[in-house]
Amino acid sequence: MLERETLPSVTTPAVTLLSGRQMPVLGLGTYQLKHHTVESVTQAIEAGYRMIDTSGDYHTQRGIGEAISNSGVRREAMFLVTKIEEADDAFEATRANLAELRQPYADLVLIHRPPDRGVGETLWQGLRRAKRLGLVNDIGVCNYSIEQIEELVYRTGELPAVNQVEWSPFGHSPGMLDFCQDNGIVIQAWSPLTRAARLNDNKLCAMAARYGKSPAQLVIRWNLQLGVVPLPKANHAQHQRENLNVFDFEISQPDMTKLRTLNEHYSAIGTLSYT
Ligand SMILES: NC(=O)c1ccc[n+]([C@@H]2O[C@H](COP(=O)([O-])OP(=O)(O)OC[C@H]3O[C@@H](n4cnc5c(N)ncnc54)[C@H](OP(=O)(O)O)[C@@H]3O)[C@@H](O)[C@H]2O)c1
Repeated sequence: MLERETLPSVTTPAVTLLSGRQMPVLGLGTYQLKHHTVESVTQAIEAGYRMIDTSGDYHTQRGIGEAISNSGVRREAMFLVTKIEEADDAFEATRANLAELRQPYADLVLIHRPPDRGVGETLWQGLRRAKRLGLVNDIGVCNYSIEQIEELVYRTGELPAVNQVEWSPFGHSPGMLDFCQDNGIVIQAWSPLTRAARLNDNKLCAMAARYGKSPAQLVIRWNLQLGVVPLPKANHAQHQRENLNVFDFEISQPDMTKLRTLNEHYSAIGTLSYT
């Protein structure tokens, strides 16, 4: 266990959610981190990560909970995101996630994807109940289209705090960005590094070299400057540190525009679900 004094001082900026609560602008993804989760998340917290993203179906919750509990970082200084599935009883699934995490509350619980029918109104009511009872501070969605968010808001009278969607320079939606920003919804970017599939793109690499940064750092910084919160997954300590080291440079506006022109609706899983 780390002594509190030995942890790096963390200066990761935060974004304000609709609730008024603060969320770090960058977090660690943990999909496929199910081996050596405790060690990997511990090293990430030591490196300075204060937001961890997980889900009941990632099989990382037990290890994440252990890493947070043993980290020496106050629970309130961490931001824990988890998800419930379409077929779940949202309230019970939230309780089950917390039991696996061995945490009294999550900071954010998300509906993992819109159900086949409807927009998840019943799931939302279950999450609201969890929120009322102090099991979660903020609630939101993943992979929802603009129309699905509008329908959810119409039916529940409440905006989601976050829409977590696949998002990179190679696959994103300016329309979704405008809609979320107009409504105070924060976009979290999943697979922000395209699962490393496009990090060797010639244009991306050439621009990254001009800034003296890696392609991954350039992509993460692009998200930050758009106001999108990236959740890069990294198992390797070197990747974890590199992905946090993005607060000491600024991408110019012309280069921000050039990065947006790389958009070809690329998806690591086939199609961008929300467009
Ligand atoms: N809501 C949803 O539906 C949904 C869906 C998918 C994912 N997610 C969340 O989003 C997170 C991120 O997405 P993802 O895991 O699919 O993919 P990702 O973050 O785009 O990419 C992860 C891959 O990039 C590599 N990598 C990390 N940093 C790197 C660097 N600096 N240079 C080169 N390669 C680097 C990692 O390697 P190492 O691990 O070997 O270091 C890993 O192979 C997930 O882990 C999960 O938490 C949410």
